[in-house]
Amino acid sequence: MLEKPQTGESGKPPQLAAKPAGDVAPLPEHYFRQSVARGLSGRLLVLTVIFVMIAEVLIFVPSVANFRNVWLQNHLDTAEAASIVYLDDSGIMLSPEAQEHLLMATQSLQVSIREGSVSRLMASGPAPGPVTEHISLGRMQPMSTLRSAFSTLLFGGERVYHVSGPMKSGEATIELVQEDKYLRNAMLSYSRNILLISLVISLITAGLVFLALYWLIVRPIIRISSNMDAFSQHPEDAALVYRPTGRNDEIGIAEARLSSLQKDLQATLRQKQHLAELGLAVSKINHDLRNILASAYLFSDRLTGVADPTVQRLAPKLVKTIDRAVEYTRSVLAYGKAVERPPDLQKHRLHALVEEVGETLSVEKPDHVEWRNAVPEDLEICCDWENLFRAVLNLCRNAVQAMEALPQDGRQPRLEIAATATPRETTIRIADTGPGIPGPAREKLFTAFQGSAKAGGTGLGLAIAFELVRGHGGSIELETTGPEGSVFRITLPADGNGAKTPALPRP
Ligand SMILES: Nc1ncnc2c1ncn2[C@@H]1O[C@H](COP(=O)(O)OP(=O)(O)OP(=O)(O)O)[C@@H](O)[C@H]1O
Ligand SMILES: [Mg+2]
Repeated sequence: MLEKPQTGESGKPPQLAAKPAGDVAPLPEHYFRQSVARGLSGRLLVLTVIFVMIAEVLIFVPSVANFRNVWLQNHLDTAEAASIVYLDDSGIMLSPEAQEHLLMATQSLQVSIREGSVSRLMASGPAPGPVTEHISLGRMQPMSTLRSAFSTLLFGGERVYHVSGPMKSGEATIELVQEDKYLRNAMLSYSRNILLISLVISLITAGLVFLALYWLIVRPIIRISSNMDAFSQHPEDAALVYRPTGRNDEIGIAEARLSSLQKDLQATLRQKQHLAELGLAVSKINHDLRNILASAYLFSDRLTGVADPTVQRLAPKLVKTIDRAVEYTRSVLAYGKAVERPPDLQKHRLHALVEEVGETLSVEKPDHVEWRNAVPEDLEICCDWENLFRAVLNLCRNAVQAMEALPQDGRQPRLEIAATATPRETTIRIADTGPGIPGPAREKLFTAFQGSAKAGGTGLGLAIAFELVRGHGGSIELETTGPEGSVFRITLPADGNGAKTPALPRP
């Protein structure tokens, strides 16, 4: 169902009606404001920033631990480079000045070399505080490296640790005692840089993702919903049918479906309009026809006074037929006001009703078509006489019309009406030996204006019969049809249960 259009700030609906839809029609400003602030694209922007930041944190954790190891290794390497002189010339102590330079270069309090169980002090500064951690590079597990790195980052700054690692130029091990403030400061500055780079990367990525999604998804959705607003205000305007952009993705499919939905809706509206106009025309014609029939009724009434025996026999039938026609015109006018009379259900003898159908048809029925009323004379049904009469008459007239067109091949065409009753329902069969119902007519047989397959037919007869039988709470079906003939079956509930005011099946 189409939604009610949104109203703008001024209380008026957005001014979209006259603009062509689906193309490059400018979109109302409030759609953009809304979509960026609260809409899909704004949310996507925030989500992308969050996701990129999460990815950066996941990368940061191992990289800060790695940074710490590299930093420590660099300091061990510096100490090793200085120790080469010492190892060449063992036993000679470095001068106090050289020791000071070595301690500064390695940001250490002590530098020593261990060979086996012998540790030789190379340089020593002020006495170090108690050592809180021993770090042996090259022997640390990944998890303990991570733990140790975050411990330095979060709680360090005033602690002293002892770090050792194998020398690259020999069997010995080089050892440093350091205050952790230098390491921690380096790690903090590294973290700050990573955070800044992450922010920049996430903003650039989010911006690109936002632009791509806005262009590919959000903008087409805004255009579709704007078209829906415009179309719902003027569904009959053909210029407002959405013009798909020809994309072959899900949005393109939605566009094509919307467009065909709107076209179908417009076709239905046109048909409804057409039927409404037709109804009005019928009512007008009917109105004047009723007056003409009233005059015909008066003339035919006078015929009953003529002494001629043929006139005496036919005049009452003529009066009754015209009377019935007047009643129909009256009920058609009432239908135009949607106040169809509810069925007046009473017990009637079906045989008599079928007999009256036969008499009415006798004028139009060619002589070679045999008429047979096979309804048991005592069979009573609960029905509205006039309505059931019309339903049966329409079915019988169709059969006669189909058979009169048949080539006379020696077989006598026959129309037979039979009925059977059970305590629950009565079944009436109208069987002919006509040519059968043509295929195209069979598909929409009971739909007004759509079931006709003969020249001059309006396609209303069966729709009316359907409506009248359904008004009795019954049903009408085509039982069989073929070159041997057709059988229509009417089923009526025995007690008239389920009867309702008839309504014509919609085309
Ligand atoms: N007994 C039948 N034998 C063969 N064809 C039939 C029979 N009953 C109906 N039809 C076919 O079904 C079509 C629909 O019938 P329907 O009574 O609804 O409309 P119609 O007879 O064409 O027009 P009208 O509104 O004047 O009755 C007919 O045009 C006819 O082709
Ligand atoms: Mg008909």
